[in-house]
Amino acid sequence: MIRKYRFGSPFSTEAVVADIPVADEAVTVGSISTEEGFSFTCTLQEEDVVYGLGENMRGINKRGYTYTSFASDDPAHTEDKHSLYAAHNFIVVSGKETFGLFVDYPTKLTFDIGYTRQDTLRISCEYADLDLYVITGDTAYDVVKQFRKIIGRSYIPPKFAFGFGQSRWGYKTAEDFKKVAEEHRKAHMPLDMVYMDIDYMQDYKDFTLNQKEFPDFRAYVDEMKKMNIHLIPIIDAGVKCQEGYDICEEGREKGYFCKRADGSDFEAAVWPGWTHFPDVLNPEARAWFGSKYQILIDQGIDGFWNDMNEPATFYTKEGVTELVDYLKAAVEEDLETIKPLEIQEKAMAISNNPADYENMYHNVNGEMIPHSRVHNLFGYNMTRAAGEAFEKISPDNRILMFSRSSYVGMHRYGGVWMGDNRSWWSHILLNLQMLPSMNMCGFLYTGADLGGFGDDTTRDLVLRWLALGVFTPLMRNHSALGTREQEFYQFENIEDFRHVIGVRYRLVPYLYSEYMKAALGDDMLFKPLAFEYPQDAFASQVEDQLMLGGQVMIAPVYKQNAKGRYVYLPEEMIFVKFLPDGSISQETLSTGHHYVDVALNEVPLFIRKGCSIPVVDAAECVGDLDLSTMKWLGYEGAQYQLYDDDGITRL
Ligand code: GLC
Repeated sequence: MIRKYRFGSPFSTEAVVADIPVADEAVTVGSISTEEGFSFTCTLQEEDVVYGLGENMRGINKRGYTYTSFASDDPAHTEDKHSLYAAHNFIVVSGKETFGLFVDYPTKLTFDIGYTRQDTLRISCEYADLDLYVITGDTAYDVVKQFRKIIGRSYIPPKFAFGFGQSRWGYKTAEDFKKVAEEHRKAHMPLDMVYMDIDYMQDYKDFTLNQKEFPDFRAYVDEMKKMNIHLIPIIDAGVKCQEGYDICEEGREKGYFCKRADGSDFEAAVWPGWTHFPDVLNPEARAWFGSKYQILIDQGIDGFWNDMNEPATFYTKEGVTELVDYLKAAVEEDLETIKPLEIQEKAMAISNNPADYENMYHNVNGEMIPHSRVHNLFGYNMTRAAGEAFEKISPDNRILMFSRSSYVGMHRYGGVWMGDNRSWWSHILLNLQMLPSMNMCGFLYTGADLGGFGDDTTRDLVLRWLALGVFTPLMRNHSALGTREQEFYQFENIEDFRHVIGVRYRLVPYLYSEYMKAALGDDMLFKPLAFEYPQDAFASQVEDQLMLGGQVMIAPVYKQNAKGRYVYLPEEMIFVKFLPDGSISQETLSTGHHYVDVALNEVPLFIRKGCSIPVVDAAECVGDLDLSTMKWLGYEGAQYQLYDDDGITRL
């Protein structure tokens, strides 16, 4: 049962596509106040578990902390943080009374989930202009399925996007990208995609190519395609301010960039230096920006990743001026009493400064709306720009697209990667914990930078992380400029990597089948254990295992130097291990707790009682997988319905 309550005059986010009439009775699951801004408050019972918030910090059960929906470019995903790059305002309180809440509100929103008071949930924001959806159901899973029905179907990528992709910020030359492909092919390590980070562009200008490196890009793309490699370029939100750069000039002329209060084009520094931001909330400007993807599609490109679209800003002139004035005053006042921590804080604050968003405006149907009122919608609408354009540019074929920032609704146009994580063991667990909550909001095509983006990685960390990445639809190794190189061929015993990546390819028919069933059925691919075993009192406490599709449970090893791990089985299952010699071990384990050995070069999974899953022989790219090599793992005589299609035609 879904009820929609309207407060004030909400901005239309178009997150929800179903036409739901506004309820006229009062909210029953909690109390509402619109005295100072908006707040929803309810009591949490001891046994209540709170799921949701999509891409955010902390565990699968969100109780005990406070979270803020405010899309932020913050590469330090540490426990003290309250938000990441997205705003996914959906939670489910699961207990004696089970209900979901979706707060359709486009800017800063706080979810205090038992932080101020352990027994109280309080959702609050500054303006009482929003739609609140209250969804009641028998179980948390049931509530999620109802929610998913009203927000529209999840994005479906081409099948090649279920292959492995190699990326690094730092590949610059035509040779650099080619080398990645060649090293993989030479070592017979599967690879479908090579990602192009900002250096492929001319001076970081969107939709341009470094002319020296790519004088004939079309031929280069084709050459890579002959190796069965798709090149996937990055597109940044900021358009470089430069005379003679057609996109900048066109956007200025047509008034398609975000404005300042005085009507001039808003400017902030990002990678290219001063940039303007396309006003993707203005449908005309959105269509215009989206149409630019055609420039690269015409060169044979069939996938993109949208970045810096919170939008990230390094600084504005106003911000820098204020900082300089502050420093001057501090120096003039008294050098002895200078406050280094305050200086540090002020200097850091010039990036992604909410004060700058106050001076950035969108033109929505002729009305100038301050960005600060709609902040969380930028990444969504940048990706929507691309998605809407793709329908016109490529009406028959799917195009790969994922974004850094997002809001519910964007799941219809693209996937999401989890941003700038670090080469930390704890980030394997964080990656796992975000998967089901992102699926709750429709984000099915997702994954993290495997091996870690920031910091120097280690061989064992990459292997363990990959053994989780084997299951995530987006499987990409990406790392930051200046960090240790982490392509698989940089490490010793390359055969271990070949084996683990090979397991992914062996599972692609199953993963694709389950992905498609989830997408077409508005379902989740990854679920917390309690969603499948609501009667099991222990299942809701499991924070490091997930149900995958209808047949599998995953429980990766994520601790350094561990030789295995404890795992909880809510029912009898078959413990499967893909062994480095290519064989597969299967052992039936009873309900309860077990310790399982898992070596660094093994990939474990569990098959639910009475189920079986298909595996095929590995291949070097998705297109070469041969379904005639299919074998079955799990319980004998079990039935499995395999979904398959040509992997490219739009559905
Ligand atoms: C941002 C992205 C990262 C990318 C870098 C350079 O930090 O999140 O993935 O490598 O920008 O473009």
